[in-house]
Amino acid sequence: MEMTPYQLANNTPLTLTPKFTLPKAERPNLSEVLPSDSIPIIDLNDHDIDDGQGPSPLVSKISQACEEYGFFHIINHGVPKELCQKVLVVASEFFQLPPEERAQYLSKDHRKQVKVFSYYRKYEGIGKVTMWSETFSHPWHPTEDFTHLLPTNPPQYREVFAEYARAIGVLFDRLLSLISRGLGLDEDCLKRRIGEKPGLNTQANYYPVCPDPELTMGLPDHNDLGSITVLLQVEGVTGLQVIKDGKWLTVDPVPDAFVINLADQTQVLSNGKFKSVRHRAVTNKLLPRLSLGMFYNPNYDTVIGPIEDLIDEKHPPKYRKYSFKEYMEEFYRQEGKRRVIEAFELPRTLRTCFCFLKNKIK
Ligand code: OGA
Ligand code: NI
Repeated sequence: MEMTPYQLANNTPLTLTPKFTLPKAERPNLSEVLPSDSIPIIDLNDHDIDDGQGPSPLVSKISQACEEYGFFHIINHGVPKELCQKVLVVASEFFQLPPEERAQYLSKDHRKQVKVFSYYRKYEGIGKVTMWSETFSHPWHPTEDFTHLLPTNPPQYREVFAEYARAIGVLFDRLLSLISRGLGLDEDCLKRRIGEKPGLNTQANYYPVCPDPELTMGLPDHNDLGSITVLLQVEGVTGLQVIKDGKWLTVDPVPDAFVINLADQTQVLSNGKFKSVRHRAVTNKLLPRLSLGMFYNPNYDTVIGPIEDLIDEKHPPKYRKYSFKEYMEEFYRQEGKRRVIEAFELPRTLRTCFCFLKNKIK
């Protein structure tokens, strides 16, 4: 059976074997990472009534954050603090279970709904390097379809998770509507375009204490693939970083906040106006870290492409239409080697051609 770093942690002292060691060019270079004072913190209680002149102050702030960063914190989001704490406790208890107990979920099959695994990257000449983390992933909705597949240990896992999922469902609706309005669209537009029966998955990431964070990575740099991600991180332990203007910034946890990051499908639907941002998680020498991401993806049959209302001669379509299944197949094909989204970009010559045709048809 393959060991993840955390399973190693339960059995033997942690060592950074070559299996977890990144080639030099891929290491995090932590001394060059900048503090992130500038990442917007948006208060969802801000004034939110459009006044006829333009969008509400809240919508303006959201759309500015989506354009400039693709990443922001939200506070006063309506999900009770106690519930956030409870869900982090059950997730963390899950990772404290004996390795044999978690091993029943170990799987490399991406079609499996409930699974424990560790991310890896393949490098030429070296092969696979495993990341210094363990991930537990499963669907978060509709609860009646999957609750029976979730752990019965820790005993509160199912109940707490179901309550958290309900609250996050409400939050996703609000966020999708604010982001839609931020694009100048009807409030239900984005949700409609992401489609019926979305793929709603969660991922708890556990990063054990790492003897040398310079040599490895918790999660390699990546873009989330769905529409938006709501991330909860334990307070007081840093690890998440985003790229801004070519530099890595740390996204330190903000008390009682969620990190919201836009993912690839929002970038495509908004025709590149809103950014899906590359991010990664580095490890910590002193403390273990836990984060819980909630994802909102289209289902495999949904066709995604730039929303027509956002396209005109000045803004020709940057991406072609595709089914989300195609997008995911491209993702698995690439095995993390480059940006999936680039495979769906339209060549520049074709972009203007589309607009020309659109005008002809009108
Ligand atoms: C993710 C992710 C970051 C973190 O799960 O997609 O980016 O801070 N997590 O754990
Ligand atoms: Ni991510």
